[in-house]
Amino acid sequence: MTHKKIVFIVTFLLLTLSLVVSACGGSAEVVENPDPVGKTEIVAAVDGNADAGQALFAKSCAACHGANAEGVTGLGPDLHNNAFIGGIDDAALADFIAAGRTVNAPDNTTGVAMPPKGGNPALTANDLADIAAYLRSLQ
Ligand code: HEC
Repeated sequence: MTHKKIVFIVTFLLLTLSLVVSACGGSAEVVENPDPVGKTEIVAAVDGNADAGQALFAKSCAACHGANAEGVTGLGPDLHNNAFIGGIDDAALADFIAAGRTVNAPDNTTGVAMPPKGGNPALTANDLADIAAYLRSLQ
């Protein structure tokens, strides 16, 4: 391949890339979906591993929800055959775990807060998908 051809191909690719980027980054798009990166992260990781999730649960969630997610009186509720988990898919469940639930949230039932990521900010989107898969296996 000649030098000129290579320069042409590289220029063409860069132009195409910048067109794609500007199309995706348009302001209308941003208004419709204010968190496109966060969403993609969760969706890409939705096929979680339940065994890995169980180990993560033991470290980050068991203090409030019990070693086997059976619940702890006055803290986190039982997560077996749980109506809330049954009503949402794994992506929404991972989103919920990431966000937690404040005491003042309208759907708070215990008067106790569920901290974002159970209080462990080190949990990644993949970790959350694994935990969601583990909780799904208890339903
Ligand atoms: C500091 C205690 C605490 C920790 C740690 C904690 N939770 Fe919770 N969690 C709660 C409380 C309290 C609630 C119930 C809030 C309410 O009243 O609606 C809750 C609710 C939930 C629910 C919704 C259940 C329902 O019936 O509405 C899920 C799912 C859940 N937690 C998963 C997790 C996972 C997964 C982790 C670990 C990453 C975790 N929690 C860590 C306290 C905790």
